[in-house]
Amino acid sequence: MTRTVGLVGARGHTGRELLRLIAARSDLELVFASSRELAGQPVSDLAPEVGTGLMFESLSADAVAGRPADAVILALPNGASAPFVAAINAACPQTVIIDLSADYRFDASWTYGLPEIYGRDALSRATRIANPGCYATAGQLAIAPLRERLASQPHVFGVSGYSGAGTTPSRKNDPDALRDNLMPYALTGHLHEQEMSRHLGCEVRFTPHVAAFFRGILATVHIALGEPVTREALIALYEDAYRDEPLVRVTSDMPEIRDGADAPGAVIGGFGLSADGRHAVVVCALDNLLKGAAVQALQNLCLALGLPE
Ligand SMILES: NC(=O)c1ccc[n+]([C@@H]2O[C@H](COP(=O)([O-])OP(=O)(O)OC[C@H]3O[C@@H](n4cnc5c(N)ncnc54)[C@H](OP(=O)(O)O)[C@@H]3O)[C@@H](O)[C@H]2O)c1
Repeated sequence: MTRTVGLVGARGHTGRELLRLIAARSDLELVFASSRELAGQPVSDLAPEVGTGLMFESLSADAVAGRPADAVILALPNGASAPFVAAINAACPQTVIIDLSADYRFDASWTYGLPEIYGRDALSRATRIANPGCYATAGQLAIAPLRERLASQPHVFGVSGYSGAGTTPSRKNDPDALRDNLMPYALTGHLHEQEMSRHLGCEVRFTPHVAAFFRGILATVHIALGEPVTREALIALYEDAYRDEPLVRVTSDMPEIRDGADAPGAVIGGFGLSADGRHAVVVCALDNLLKGAAVQALQNLCLALGLPE
């Protein structure tokens, strides 16, 4: 049976990926695509794979809630989702909402959707799903298998392509400012630091950077261990943790940005280990727009609708 989906924020970087991913599925039908800037233009102008017929519309929160759909995906900037959630709650509470922003990742009444770590049971019953952040996905995938063995807080050193900063112009997505450059920002208290700490249940430190390439994230994670391990045992731990997860590949090689960029899933490797076996360094590469956003949203959507991921 085909399930119907509406997309709000369809013009943005993650919205663009969602248009492509939804169009590729025979069990999902895109019934509206909202963009204020592109209203009146065919969706196929931006995303030819969607086919002809569907036009971008500028839909208010009430208009979105008035359009029948099994699910609505909100791909809006942080702070913009609340009116849409309120209108859907009031008009059609059974509609599944997937929110890509950070607005509900700290709300216990929403289900946090990172299936490879937190499982699929809650997601299969959920109607309100908070999609994780991109760096937060990479950091958590790299830390989770060692959660019970930490001696102190892990530190995630992250580098992202500039599509991570969205389409609203800023220094962090300005190719001129980024050329031959690497920009650190939010050195303490980044939302993804709080997000990783909350969901992993341990304090995490995180320093983000943005670079001149468009897409892809690399998280290099320092992890102090309570008990020493061998490199073989360390790799085996990750292989066991992600053995049944097609979107997470564990390798003894060193992942680079280009191993994650344009790929649907994450690659975890590196596995540096100090001579005393108590300090591990794990590297995770993924595409911020895919496993860091749109692919994960589609996984969560399909789990909630009872469809294959
Ligand atoms: N980029 C990433 O790597 C990434 C990864 C994970 C999560 N996220 C999260 O996903 C969300 C979307 O990110 P993005 O990078 O796709 O952003 P983006 O490229 O800046 O796109 C934002 C979209 O929202 C629409 N929009 C903006 N303000 C709006 C408002 N007040 N009401 C209705 N529509 C509005 C814009 O279209 P119109 O102006 O045409 O309406 C546009 O389609 C963000 O919350 C971000 O934090 C992003």
